[in-house]
Amino acid sequence: MHLNAFLMGVGHHEAAWRHPRTEPGRVLDIRHFQQLARIAERGKLDSVFFADGLAIWNNVRHNATGGLEPLTLLAALAAVTSHIGLIATASTTYNEPFHLARKFASLDHISGGRAGWNIVTSAGTAEAQNFGLDDRPAHSDRYERAAEFLEVAVKLWDSWDDDALVVNRRSGVYADTDKVHTFDHRGKHFRVRGPLNVPRPPQGHPLLVQAGSSEDGKEFAAQYAEAVFTAQQTFEEAKGFYDDLKSRLARYGREPGELKVLPGISPIIGSTEREARRLEAELEELINPEYGVSQLSQIAGIDLSAYPLDGPLPPLNVHTEGNQSRVKLIVDLARRESLTIRRLIARLAGGRGHRVVAGTPVQIADQLQHWYENGAADGFNVMPAHLPGGLEDFVDHVVPELQARGLFRLEYGGRTLRENYGLRRPVGRFATAAVS
Ligand SMILES: Cc1cc2nc3c(=O)[nH]c(=O)nc-3n(C[C@H](O)[C@H](O)[C@H](O)COP(=O)(O)O)c2cc1C
Repeated sequence: MHLNAFLMGVGHHEAAWRHPRTEPGRVLDIRHFQQLARIAERGKLDSVFFADGLAIWNNVRHNATGGLEPLTLLAALAAVTSHIGLIATASTTYNEPFHLARKFASLDHISGGRAGWNIVTSAGTAEAQNFGLDDRPAHSDRYERAAEFLEVAVKLWDSWDDDALVVNRRSGVYADTDKVHTFDHRGKHFRVRGPLNVPRPPQGHPLLVQAGSSEDGKEFAAQYAEAVFTAQQTFEEAKGFYDDLKSRLARYGREPGELKVLPGISPIIGSTEREARRLEAELEELINPEYGVSQLSQIAGIDLSAYPLDGPLPPLNVHTEGNQSRVKLIVDLARRESLTIRRLIARLAGGRGHRVVAGTPVQIADQLQHWYENGAADGFNVMPAHLPGGLEDFVDHVVPELQARGLFRLEYGGRTLRENYGLRRPVGRFATAAVS
C-alpha cells in the first residue's frame, strides 16, 4: 500500500486552526513543515504533498490558509529528510513549460531523486484574474494546453542524455554536446527550442501526479500520470473510478501498474471510537457557517448565501468550466444523504469532499485494508484533520497496524520517489533515438 501525506497549514479541517491542538501561528514557519516531513518519514510514508492555487483560495477572514509556495518549501524539506518523496502542485495554465521543467529538475537534483509534480490546470476564476484574463480558459482548452505542456516538459528533461556529463578536467570537456539535444518544439501553444539548462534529473522525470477526475482529467491521467489523487466518498464510487481509470491505460500502451490511484482520506483518530467522535464534534462546533457557505459557493460557482441554511442545495451545473468532478461529488453527496446546506457544509468541512473517517487506529486500518484489497485503491492520500497531532497519531498508531497486517513497508526499499512507488525510471527519448 502506498501512503502520501497531504499537508496543509495546521490541518485539513477548516476549523483546525481554532482547535487547542494546533498552533496557527506556525503556518509560515518552516520548522513546522520540517517537523511534519520528519514525522511522515519516521512512518516510512511514500511522500508528502502540497496543494497550491494562484489566488487566495479561502476566505482568509476565517481560515489560517495561504502561505508558502510549494517548490520553495519542498527545497527546504529536502535538506532535512533523506527518503520521503516531495510532491508540489504547479499549474499548466499559468506557467511556461521551460520554467516548470527547470524548477522540478532542480528539486529532483536537490533531493537526490525525490521530486514529484501534481499537474493541475487551475479551475478558479480568481486565478485567471491574476494573469491578465477576465475568466479561466474553457475546461477542454486547459486540458489541451496541459497535454502539450507535458510533451514539452518531458522533452526538456530528456534533452540531456543520462551520460551527457563528461567532467574531464584534463581534456577540458565538461559535457558531451552530442548528448545535449536541441529539439525545437513547435506546437499550438508552445515554441521551445531547448535544451534545458539543467542536466537530466536523477529520476529521469519527476514523478507525474494528477488530480482532476472529469472525463478530460481521466484521459489526461491515463496518458501521462503515474499517480492520481482523487476524492471519493464511497467504496462503490472509488471502485468505479479505479476500474475506469485503469481501463483507459491500454489505449496509451501502458500497464495498469504504471499508474497508482490514491483516494483521499481524512482520518480523525482516537484511542476509542468515542474519543474520535468527540474530537470530530469539537472541530465541527468550531465551524463558521459563513465561511462554509463561501467555500461551497466558490466550488459551486453560484452565490449560496441567499439560500436558507436549513434548506436543500439548489440545482448546480455539473458541467461547469471549473472543478467538474468536485461539483458532481457534492451534488451526489447532498442527494444521497438528503443534506441541508448546513449539514452539507459540516460534511465538507473536514476534507472539502474527501472522505472523513473518525475512529480508532484499528477501525481506520480496517477501512484502508478493505478499499485496498478490493480494488478501489493502490494507496491513500492521507489528509490529517489537524497538524502536527493528526499526522503523529496516524504514523504512530495506524501505520504500525498496517505494518502488522503486512500491508505497509517496514523500511524504505530505495532512495527515490519512483522507487517508493515501485515505478520505473523513464528512458530518455533522444538517447534511445540515437541508439536505435
Ligand atoms: C487531492 C486533490 C488535490 C488537488 N490539488 C489541487 C491543487 O493543489 N491546485 C489546484 O489548482 N487544483 C487541485 N485539485 C483540483 C484538480 O487538479 C482539478 O483542477 C479539479 O479536480 C478539476 O478537474 P476536473 O474538472 O478534471 O475534475 C486537486 C484535486 C484533488 C482531488
